[in-house]
Amino acid sequence: MTHIKEKLPPPQSRQASEALPVSNGIETVISIKNISKKYRIAHRSARYTALRDNITYALLSPFQTIKNQMKKILARETKEEFWALKNINLDVKKGEVIGIIGRNGAGKSTLLKILTGITPPTEGEIKIKGKVVSLLEVGTGFHPELTGRENIFLNGAILGMTKRQIEKNFDKIVAFSGIERFIDTPVKRYSSGMYVRLAFSVAAHLEPDILLVDEVLAVGDADFQKKCLGKMDEVTKTQGRTILFVSHNMDAVSRLCKTTVLLEQGKISAIGDTDKIIELYLKGGPQHDTPLPLPMTDENVTLTEFSITQRGKQTESIDGSDPFGIHIGFSIARNLQSFRVGVLIKNSSGTLISRSFVQDWEPELEEITAGHYNANLLIPARLFMAGEYLIEIKLFCFRSKDYFADTPVQKTVTVHSPKEYHELASKSGTRGYFLIPTAWNMQHKKAS
Ligand SMILES: Nc1ncnc2c1ncn2[C@@H]1O[C@H](COP(=O)(O)OP(=O)(O)OP(=O)(O)O)[C@@H](O)[C@H]1O
Ligand SMILES: [Mg+2]
Repeated sequence: MTHIKEKLPPPQSRQASEALPVSNGIETVISIKNISKKYRIAHRSARYTALRDNITYALLSPFQTIKNQMKKILARETKEEFWALKNINLDVKKGEVIGIIGRNGAGKSTLLKILTGITPPTEGEIKIKGKVVSLLEVGTGFHPELTGRENIFLNGAILGMTKRQIEKNFDKIVAFSGIERFIDTPVKRYSSGMYVRLAFSVAAHLEPDILLVDEVLAVGDADFQKKCLGKMDEVTKTQGRTILFVSHNMDAVSRLCKTTVLLEQGKISAIGDTDKIIELYLKGGPQHDTPLPLPMTDENVTLTEFSITQRGKQTESIDGSDPFGIHIGFSIARNLQSFRVGVLIKNSSGTLISRSFVQDWEPELEEITAGHYNANLLIPARLFMAGEYLIEIKLFCFRSKDYFADTPVQKTVTVHSPKEYHELASKSGTRGYFLIPTAWNMQHKKAS
């Protein structure tokens, strides 16, 4: 798999005060000039270390971190360089809420990581005015063994707040998160929704000048998503804060952002009025996912296969008249508990519409022994309306580890209507996702 070369990240807050231009009385708070980012990928099975893991490792066992780094240095690897971002130019004014959209691997998260200082640009220059707070991954910086209360302090400190500042905001953070009852429970017992509630509340109450948000809404429930959008709206309108919002949820982007940037293969391909940019993006034809570099390894799990087949052949163009299969092959290096494997099915704008995990049906497989496994899911005929769907596979240990979280493993499939189905209504995307099996019975009632 791709091997990520990065140093331990510095805390996720950044303070800079270089002189920035003022136009029409509104100051520019972020100025990005010709930013490019080159990554080196090593072709060898190695771990992709998530930011949260880095922080946790550094806190728990500095020695282990050094040992791991040494292992990586000593390993003989073939390296390849590629540009994750190329010549990005963008000026953001105070109080602007900018959406950043684009396909998987387009460079959205990389851009936010550069703005936070987690990773330096290879070329170019950034000027930022004010305090930046970022929410890049769910619960970044949260430690599973610590309680919600302890994590608020830890996270606040990582984000550059003093103890007094955190104490001042503590009650508001807890109230907003809506998880008062669990505040003294270790966060490893939280559901992913509770996790993100707390993480978002901490970030939103740190009174940043600039808030960077990456995909965090995807995890919360509909109510909390609404609350987050409302909160972000409020901080920009009443407090003049600036937000950069990365999301695959086009509804959220269009509600929150006036201006949106479309990133394609590391370059800004369009910028402007949000609705126009979203339309452009969705019209961009079938998504061409970057081919997955299988096998991929993350800690104890190696993914060896992800394929979609119909009538015995691999395909991503599905005839709705027949069933199709999703196949996942993986190896587990040691016995695991609370293990889940399955798929998420999303619409073309990234909204989750359904999911299915092996353990939903066979909970005893949560305790999985080391070895190789094939998990196959047969999707029945006539289930989906015609359209594009994103199939993402997930492997995780409940509340402790989400494998391949940083390189989502997904494929786009195009489903065609079954041959018996004659769609007469509009094709404007208002028809929903699921096809109700033929159940109509209409009779002519003769007048008596
Ligand atoms: N630390 C790293 N080392 C090497 N390659 C990396 C690293 N981080 C990201 N990449 C690669 O850089 C490219 C851009 O990744 P990035 O995470 O910015 O995409 P993204 O637009 O956020 O995608 P997604 O929508 O899936 O979150 C991808 O090809 C990714 O594999
Ligand atoms: Mg990303």
